[in-house]
Amino acid sequence: MRLERYPKFAASMSIFIFLLMAASPAISADSETEINFETQILPRLQNRCFSCHSAPGNVTKPKGGVQLDSVKGIETSLHGEVIVAGEPEDSLLYQRITLPEGETGIMPPPETGDPLTAQETDLIRKWIQQGADYGEWTGNQSAHKASVTDTNSHQPTVMPPITSLAFSHDGKSVVGGSQAGLHVYDFPALSLQRRIKVEARNINALAFSPDGHRLAVGGGNPANEGIIEIFSWHDGKSLRILKEHRDSVTAIAWRDASSLASASLDRRIIVWDLQTGTSIQQLEGHSKGVSSLCFLSDKERLVSTGIDQSVRVWDLISGGLIRSMNNHTLPVHDIALRPDASGLPMIVSAGDDRTVRFWQPTIGRMVKFARLEAPPLNVAWLNNGTRIVVACTDGAIRIVDPDSVEVTDKIHAIDGWAYALAVHPTDGSVVVGGPNAQIRRIVPE
Ligand code: HEC
Repeated sequence: MRLERYPKFAASMSIFIFLLMAASPAISADSETEINFETQILPRLQNRCFSCHSAPGNVTKPKGGVQLDSVKGIETSLHGEVIVAGEPEDSLLYQRITLPEGETGIMPPPETGDPLTAQETDLIRKWIQQGADYGEWTGNQSAHKASVTDTNSHQPTVMPPITSLAFSHDGKSVVGGSQAGLHVYDFPALSLQRRIKVEARNINALAFSPDGHRLAVGGGNPANEGIIEIFSWHDGKSLRILKEHRDSVTAIAWRDASSLASASLDRRIIVWDLQTGTSIQQLEGHSKGVSSLCFLSDKERLVSTGIDQSVRVWDLISGGLIRSMNNHTLPVHDIALRPDASGLPMIVSAGDDRTVRFWQPTIGRMVKFARLEAPPLNVAWLNNGTRIVVACTDGAIRIVDPDSVEVTDKIHAIDGWAYALAVHPTDGSVVVGGPNAQIRRIVPE
């Protein structure tokens, strides 16, 4: 999301900042001095934001799903976009505190008092620009309280969340994508094996080619451009960069060795010819960002999900929408085709309405659904389609029987949101990724 700011407003604001800085040197900060989070930023968030944006328990429910009273909460809120280190303009927190006074969505909301002063927002901007370093603070009031009980004086550095995962075809490696780039881990040890440099700043999607020799990486620079980069898997060499999307790429599905489809927050699905590196088809219809994709096995029909709550079926031969299925009541995040199924194809979708829904896309029927305790972010099929595995915002994975739609198992995997999930090609285990570069292997029964 990008919120426009008015140039006139920006100009008058900088004069205002100048005057304020001259008047009160105590809390001003020029670009050279390192801003201290605990003494300069935290007190402002405490006074103006914590009453609505704290961990459940301290408030009934963090507003807008945004939790600001711990590093973990900030990192895991809204897919890590609340504070993007180094990028104040891309940080939702900064966007919301700098909206023109009176504009809807300004934080704190007008009924709770005046907007932050230009001097305060400027400090926050500089702190984010300098890398959003929280120092020793990990949560709540101050680091000093926490360090009494914490015998480990070396706090681990906070790493960005792992937002996508994929297994290599031989099952010996697993690739994780995050704002820190692509990391390749050995499997099953999950030790870091190598890094691959990528063009996109954020990575949301990873998909191996049908023969396993190439890896497609989708992501981008939010609200600006979407990027798909194709790598040769064995040597990590970048082969091609595809840029046509106007916002982050959220999902990639290979159609065959020489074409793939990509979904983007720009509301479009693009089908690409990899030989020429050009787009051959654009599918438009989602009224908000597209979140995931899968081909049916004929590779002529494609199913997509969206922030607009719909599950849509497309015909690539005619280039048109076949149908839109609208049972979800909140944004849908992920979709997966049941493997090896006889009879009508079946897909499963996972949405913020805390449901996983089973569909027959060729006849447009929702067959069943299961309601979960926490919103699911990712879904995949296990054991040749006899179970599904779901990664949820409470850090657990849940196993669901698609026939009885009962949750047969719940396993804690990650502290914070379980953003990413991948199923091993043969051994039945799954890897789950989350905040602070957590990656875990889970072996469901
Ligand atoms: C009185 C309660 C209240 C206070 C105080 C408050 N907020 Fe919010 N905030 C909300 C609510 C409600 C929403 C969700 C509705 C919306 O998106 O506007 C929200 C949403 C947000 C979001 C999510 C934006 C998005 O794009 O989804 C951010 C970021 C945010 N607030 C930051 C802040 C910051 C920073 C402060 C302190 C300077 C603050 N809020 C103070 C109630 C509050």
